[in-house]
Parts: sequence; C-alpha cells; structure tokens
Amino acid sequence: MTETILEARKLAKTYTINNSAILILDAVSLTIGQGEFAVITGDSGSGKTTLLTLLSGLDRPTSGRVILAGRDITDLDEDSLARLRNEQIGFVFQAFHLVPSLNAMENVMFPAELKGDRLARDKASALLHRVGLWERRHHFPDQLSGGEKQRIAICRALINSPRILFADEPTGNLDSKNSDAIVDLLAELHREQGATLVLATHSAGIAGRAQRIIRLSDGRLSNGSGSSC
Ligand SMILES: Nc1ncnc2c1ncn2[C@@H]1O[C@H](COP(=O)(O)OP(=O)(O)O)[C@@H](O)[C@H]1O
Ligand SMILES: [Mg+2]
Repeated sequence: MTETILEARKLAKTYTINNSAILILDAVSLTIGQGEFAVITGDSGSGKTTLLTLLSGLDRPTSGRVILAGRDITDLDEDSLARLRNEQIGFVFQAFHLVPSLNAMENVMFPAELKGDRLARDKASALLHRVGLWERRHHFPDQLSGGEKQRIAICRALINSPRILFADEPTGNLDSKNSDAIVDLLAELHREQGATLVLATHSAGIAGRAQRIIRLSDGRLSNGSGSSC
C-alpha cells in the first residue's frame, strides 16, 4: 500500500450570502497516496475549485481537517501556511497567474528565490529546457501564447520540487491541441518526478488519463470515490 500524502477529513465549506449560509462542500473525506495521479471531476459548480483551494492551503475550511504528509495544516498561521505552500505545494491555475512584469525565467525562479535557493537560476534553466521554452526565457507573459504561458506556470509550480502538484482546469483557457500537450506534459512530469498530481477538470477525456477519479456532485463525493485503492 502506498503512503498517504494528503488526507481530507470531513471538509465543509459554507459561504454566507445575504445572511443565508450556502453549503458548497459537504463532509468531503478522502486520502491521496504518495505519487498518485488523481483527478477531481464533476460538473461546473460541483465544488472542484473550492476543494482544491482547501486541500492546498489556499483557503480554510469552515469545518474539517486537512493533513499533509502527516501534519495537520488546518490551523497553521498565515506565515507558516505561506511557507508550506511555497516549499511543499505547487499550484497551476486555469488563468496561468504569471507575474506580468517578470520574464519567463524570472517567473519560474520566483518561488525558489523566495526561499533563498542559490540554485534558483540553474533549476529554472533545467525546467525551461525540459518544457522546450529555453529560447523564450527573456519573453514576458504577454509575448507568450496560452500554451507557452501554462508551460511556464508548470515550471514555476515545480521549481521547489513540491510534494504535491495541484492543477485546477489547467487546460481551460487552451485550444484542444495545446490542451493535449499540457496534459501530456503534466502526466510525463508526474512520472519523471514521482510527485503526487491532483488535477481538477470537468473534462471526461482528461479524467480518463488519471490513475484515480474522485467525483464530486453538488459538493459531495459520489459513492466510493474518497478512499485510495
Ligand atoms: N467566494 C464564493 N462565494 C460564494 N459562492 C462561491 C464562492 N466560490 C464558489 N462559490 C460557489 O460554490 C460552488 C462551487 O464552485 P466551484 O468550487 O468554483 O466549482 P467548480 O470548480 O466545480 O466549477 C458554485 O455554486 C459557486 O458559485
Ligand atoms: Mg473550477
């Protein structure tokens, strides 16, 4: 059996709008094994993004716990959480979220520089070569195509060798050719680096690439998709 790297215990998220509480996620419990490629899937509005932001420490649950590598991260203060996100978690967003004033190389180096890694430039160079964008290292985000921006964002997410890489609809802003290339790249990097990959997508085609499918419906797990096999 593989070691558990991530565990959600009865996660719930409620938003209050006009004084009425809306339950977005309801008692979601799941475990993800070290090195697993898991997809979280479900219709638009089913709670995939909300779940990913809770699992990755980008937001806090209303109730429930998140355990990463045996450590309960639910109540960490903001500074500890920010450090943990930078050093142990990579996150790839649908809309890339690159820093517009930094070029490709600087965007990739940024998380490593933040923790004072003297090898930041060497690591960024290796990643840019790996994804075929070395020639574009001096380009700024607005000089790159969508597919190129996402490859840069993937390099940035990987530079600190995270224990887990999260990707939220990483191909949502791309055409089908670039979508395929990005999913291929993520699957290859997952194999090469042995990192755990948790990808949210509404696409059945992409979900079919994963070793494990976790299905959400109206903020709840569909039967049987919470436990690791
Ligand atoms: N900040 C928020 N405030 C209120 N409702 C929200 C907020 N974020 C998401 N929601 C609602 O939560 C539900 C799930 O959203 P989301 O997690 O983005 O789903 P998905 O990623 O599966 O499309 C949706 O009904 C959405 O409108
Ligand atoms: Mg979403």
